[in-house]
Amino acid sequence: MISQRARSLKPSPTLAIAAKEKALRAQGLDIVGFGAGEPDFDTPNHIKKAAIDAIMDGFTKYTPAAGMDELKDAIIAKFKRDSDLEYTREEVIATCGGKHALYNLFQAVFQEGDEVIVPTPYWVSYPAMIELAGATPVFVETHEEDEYQLTADMVKAHLTEKTRGIILNYPSNPCGAVYSLRNLDAIGKLAVEHGFYLISDEIYEKLVYDGYTHTSIAALGGPIKEATIIAHGVSKTYSMTGWRIGFAAGNKEIIRAMSNIQSQSTSNPASISQKAAVAALNGPQDFVGFMVKEFVKRRDVFVAGFAGMEGVSCFNPKGAFYVFPSFKGLVGRTYKGKKVASIAQWTDILLEDFHVAVVPGAEFGKEGHLRLSFATSMEVIEKGLARIRKAVDSLD
Ligand SMILES: Cc1ncc(COP(=O)(O)O)c(C=O)c1O
Repeated sequence: MISQRARSLKPSPTLAIAAKEKALRAQGLDIVGFGAGEPDFDTPNHIKKAAIDAIMDGFTKYTPAAGMDELKDAIIAKFKRDSDLEYTREEVIATCGGKHALYNLFQAVFQEGDEVIVPTPYWVSYPAMIELAGATPVFVETHEEDEYQLTADMVKAHLTEKTRGIILNYPSNPCGAVYSLRNLDAIGKLAVEHGFYLISDEIYEKLVYDGYTHTSIAALGGPIKEATIIAHGVSKTYSMTGWRIGFAAGNKEIIRAMSNIQSQSTSNPASISQKAAVAALNGPQDFVGFMVKEFVKRRDVFVAGFAGMEGVSCFNPKGAFYVFPSFKGLVGRTYKGKKVASIAQWTDILLEDFHVAVVPGAEFGKEGHLRLSFATSMEVIEKGLARIRKAVDSLD
């Protein structure tokens, strides 16, 4: 008998779409896939070499469950260098990916009866992980017209005595929005006043465009820092999705609780990957600049492509590597003599008749949109855009 908890859980839709894409390709179809949530670049050589050295040096045994000191120190140095934030070893943890940092954190601070505020559109795993901790997600809708800004007033309208936390993800997956400092500050003050946690998912911190500089909400003042737990990782910044190293920083009681959960579940993240993450965080950072330059070019092609399509609007993302255009204007039009009744149906038409795989916005709590990743080559983006244009032009 499968537990109620597991039965109510559906698999990650982004991973499910990637699997569907693969299956169609295996049938010989030329599918253009925009589902991927990982950079298409290889992990830099100096990082790979650190892992090879770790293996050859026999660094292949257990480390402390919350990560070895060398990695904790690299994480501490990263926060100091990038955000002028001070943390001690007791205030940081290395985890098996950014996702597991969040999972451990939710298990550590949320329980039955708690409410957690989640701005929409959201990353697919937040609601599922909140529910796995027994808590309830409370959604606050943000809008393309407002550049997906979240204000303290919007948050305030959803506060109850049960509110225990808010998830802030900037730059955001799926829409690439970043919050203004003013809004972050006001939300931070609200959290301090009402005593709820600020969970700050900064995994896309380094993938920002148009001169934007990331400021962590934790850097906005003592009490705000005290209320904040940062979730982060090396996956996106260094193209290290398969290595599974994430990290978190915050109050030492919470970090200790997360470490205990980790010590009774996964134990330490892979020792070899930890050595690689040290090389990533402490080593040369030029790879990140190179990747950002490439992403900007691709984003621009996507945004310009969508700007030319009737009935489509596309927010220009300030970070991460996704575009999140609205196709709402196409619903109700006719395709092959039949009305397109929903965006879900439009997604199926794109995949089945035009061989373009995208993730429907509903998976991120935002109907009417599609998420397309630009962590793929320019050639693929141009080919995909041409197919989408053809699909739009075929509507009556
Ligand atoms: C917003 C967000 N947070 C966290 C993660 C987790 O990344 P990982 O577990 O690969 O480090 C992802 C990955 O897609 C993400 O998009």
